[in-house]
Amino acid sequence: EATDLIFVENDVYDRPRQLFVPAAEKWLEMKSVAACDNVSLRIVSAFRSVEYQSEIIRAKLAEGKNLLEILTTVAAPGYSEHHTGRAVDICSSAKNVLTEDFEKTESFAWLVENAARFAFKLSYPKDSDSKIDYEPWHWAFCG
Ligand code: DAL
Ligand code: ZN
Repeated sequence: EATDLIFVENDVYDRPRQLFVPAAEKWLEMKSVAACDNVSLRIVSAFRSVEYQSEIIRAKLAEGKNLLEILTTVAAPGYSEHHTGRAVDICSSAKNVLTEDFEKTESFAWLVENAARFAFKLSYPKDSDSKIDYEPWHWAFCG
C-alpha cells in the first residue's frame, strides 16, 4: 500500500480521493489540459487500501456473486493497482461510471490520444493477457 498519498479531489460521488504524490501531480495536470479541450475527466476511484478492496469483494459475495466471477472485475486484495495510489478509475459524468459505455465518450477518446503524454496507461485493454475483463475506465500512472 502506498503511504506517500495526497488528496486530489472529491470523486463523482463527492468522496475525498487520494493518489500517490507524483501520480496526483500528473493527474491534475492531465485534467486541466483536458478541460482546456472541453473534456471532462472525473474520478470514480483512486487509492484503495487492501481492507477497502476486501470490503468491495465481501459486498459482491453478499450479493450472491461467485468469487471467481468477481475476480474477473475486482483484483484480489493485495493485488490491485489501486493500492499503489497510481491507478484511477475515470468517468466523464455520473452517466458512465464503471461501464464499457465510457469507451464511447469524448473523454475516453481524449485519453487514448493524450494520456501517454502524462504517463497514464490503460491497464486492462480489450486484448490484454490479464485475467481481468476490459476496463476502459481504469488508467494507471507509470512514470
Ligand atoms: N478493477 C481492478 C482490476 C481492481 O480492482 O484493481
Ligand atoms: Zn480501477
